[in-house]
Amino acid sequence: MKRLLKISGIILGVLVLLALIFAAYIQFSSFPTYENKAPELIVQPDSLKLIEGEKIVKTLCSTCHLSGDRKLGGKHMIDASTFGEIHSTNITKHPKYGALSKYTDGEIAYLIRTGIKKDGTYAPPWMIKLPQLSDYDMESIIVYLRSDADELQPSDKTNIPSKLNFLSKMLIKTGAFAPMSYPEEPINSPPPGDKAAYGKYLAIAKYDCFACHSADFAKCDFENPEKSVGFLGGGNPIPDMDGNVILSANLTMDEETGLGKWSESEFIRAVKSGIRPNKIANRFPMPPYSRLEDEEISAIWAYLQTVPKINNPNDFTPDND
Ligand code: HEC
Ligand code: HEC
Repeated sequence: MKRLLKISGIILGVLVLLALIFAAYIQFSSFPTYENKAPELIVQPDSLKLIEGEKIVKTLCSTCHLSGDRKLGGKHMIDASTFGEIHSTNITKHPKYGALSKYTDGEIAYLIRTGIKKDGTYAPPWMIKLPQLSDYDMESIIVYLRSDADELQPSDKTNIPSKLNFLSKMLIKTGAFAPMSYPEEPINSPPPGDKAAYGKYLAIAKYDCFACHSADFAKCDFENPEKSVGFLGGGNPIPDMDGNVILSANLTMDEETGLGKWSESEFIRAVKSGIRPNKIANRFPMPPYSRLEDEEISAIWAYLQTVPKINNPNDFTPDND
């Protein structure tokens, strides 16, 4: 008996020691770096791409990067506090503080697709990744970011480094948060006339609806989005500005817990203006997609008709209007 106690004592001691070594490694080792294999890419100014790029950046980037001076000067992201004290970066044309002034066009595309920054470190999950965005849309983003738009005029907001907590350090250093692969072939979006296919492109590759609207960010399959756990079935717990958890909504056509009883025009209104058929407004973090064309939202609606229904009582729909 004594001997047994002694052995379990030793085993316990070793386990505690290993846990301490692991904790010290996570806390003090440096962040992994990745080879920056940015493509050779020089994007020419183009008036149509400028318009599209403005729409994409104002829809996807500004929410996180807009500072108090109405420029993309970066801000403290209170809603990312699960990961520590997170600050987004100044991406205006400020020669010193603006991160993009040091990036080539190819490096911007590489960052947005893979998450690998110019210096080879990984931009963590709270910064967007769009691996399957079409080349046209990617070039549109770059044309806009290089333009003279008001929100890109130099902001003299200095960059405050994020202070990551133990959880996010662990996820990055153990490789649970790792870069996406850069696509090997050119990417074209389906033509708008091919409605459901175009809607799928918008919901998955372009406007990133699927990650928030599947079961859990950690269980999303970013290489094969449709294989994500609870694909588009809602219930993903996302913190709001006060740290309260908001569950994302079920976007499948399930009649009881999803959008099965909604009409297309109700869906367009809810996505564009945030007002649901029951007149209750969508709460943060559901972004208002006010810049999207009705045709785009209509294409997403057409795609949602093809997505397998999920009955998920764990989503937010107060009275399942
Ligand atoms: C959900 C919030 C969020 C969204 C959306 C977002 N960003 Fe970021 N971005 C961040 C945060 C936070 C950082 C700082 C990352 C870090 O700590 O390394 C960042 C960093 C950056 C950087 C700096 C890279 C460097 O070398 O330091 C660039 C450039 C950038 N974002 C561009 C964009 C563009 C372009 C978009 C839209 C396509 C976008 N971001 C959308 C949160 C976001
Ligand atoms: C940043 C995360 C996020 C993104 C991105 C996002 N949503 Fe949402 N969405 C939510 C959350 C959270 C709710 C629930 C809001 C609430 O409970 O008030 C929601 C609610 C909705 C609703 C209301 C549904 C209902 O049953 O009440 C619709 C419709 C919707 N989203 C469509 C979309 C579409 C389409 C896209 C992409 C174009 C999208 N969402 C992108 C987080 C997101």
